[in-house]
Amino acid sequence: MATNQDTIWEKFLAPFFSTFLIDEAQLKELRQSIDWEKETEKFQHPDQVYPNYYTSGNFHGIEGGYLTTGAAVTYDPITQYVLPPSETWVRQAAIKSIKVNPSRIIDLGCGTGSTTVLLKSTFPQAEVTGLDLSPYMLVMASRKAQQAGKEIQWLQGDAQDTGLLDASFDLVTASLLFHETPPSVCEQILREVYRILKPGGQVIVLDGNQSLIRQTPWLTEIFEEPYIKAYSQGSVDAWMGAAGLTGVSTEEFWWLHQVTQGRKPKTPA
Ligand SMILES: C[S@@+](CC[C@H](N)C(=O)[O-])C[C@H]1O[C@@H](n2cnc3c(N)ncnc32)[C@H](O)[C@@H]1O
Repeated sequence: MATNQDTIWEKFLAPFFSTFLIDEAQLKELRQSIDWEKETEKFQHPDQVYPNYYTSGNFHGIEGGYLTTGAAVTYDPITQYVLPPSETWVRQAAIKSIKVNPSRIIDLGCGTGSTTVLLKSTFPQAEVTGLDLSPYMLVMASRKAQQAGKEIQWLQGDAQDTGLLDASFDLVTASLLFHETPPSVCEQILREVYRILKPGGQVIVLDGNQSLIRQTPWLTEIFEEPYIKAYSQGSVDAWMGAAGLTGVSTEEFWWLHQVTQGRKPKTPA
C-alpha cells in the first residue's frame, strides 16, 4: 500500500476538517458500535476479486482505501463539504437528467448509497440495486436505506463485470466513480453498462468536470486521488460513444461537476 501523498488535503484540509467540521469522537463511537464482521458478511463474496488499481493505492489519504471501516464512516461527513454548492443539489443534477421511466435501476460504485437512496425516493415503484466493491461502504449504504425506510438491494461486485443479466436495467447510474478508476476501467464499465442496459435504456454518469479539472491542475492535488489526472485528460462522452451508447451529451453543473448521459440504441447498430 502506498504511503500518503503530500496533498493539500493532508497538509491543510484534513487538520481543518478534524478540528472544526468533523466530530471525530462521534465517528469513533459509530465505528465501534457496528459489528463489522457480522454486517459485512451480508454482502461479502468469499471469492470476490479486487482489481489491482483498487488495492494498490490509497483513496482520500486513507490507508487501505475503501476496504476499511474508517473510509466507510468518514465518507459522508467529508463528502457533504466537498461538493459545492451542496451535495444534494449536485446529486439532484444527475436525477434531473433522467429521461426514462425506469422499473429497474442499478447504481454502480454506490458507496454509502446517497445517490441510490435518492433514486429510490424519485422512483418509489422501481426495483433499485446498489453495487460496490467495498462491503464496508455497503454496510453504511444499507443502514442509510433502512433509516430512510427504502427497500434497496445491495450487492458486492465489480462494475466492470457485474455478473448480472444482459438487458436487465432501464437505468444505470454511476456517481463520483469514474475519477477514481483508471480510464481503461471507465471504458470497461461502460461496455458492461451497455450489456446490462435494456434497449432504449439510459446511463447517467455524474463526476468532476473534466475540462475544468484539465485546465486547473491544482484541483487534482487536493485529495489523494491516484487516477483523477488521467480522468481529466479523458472524455466520458468519448468513452460512452466507444461503448456503443448513443445520443451522448454532457452538461456542466456549477463549473466543478458534469453529468453525462447516453442511451442504448433501441435496435442494434
Ligand atoms: C467516491 S466513491 C462514490 C460513492 C457514491 N457513488 C457517491 O456518489 O457518493 C467511489 C466508490 O466506488 C467504489 N468502486 C471503485 N471501483 C469500483 C468498481 N470497479 N466496482 C464497483 N465499485 C467500485 C468504491 O468502493 C467507492 O465506494
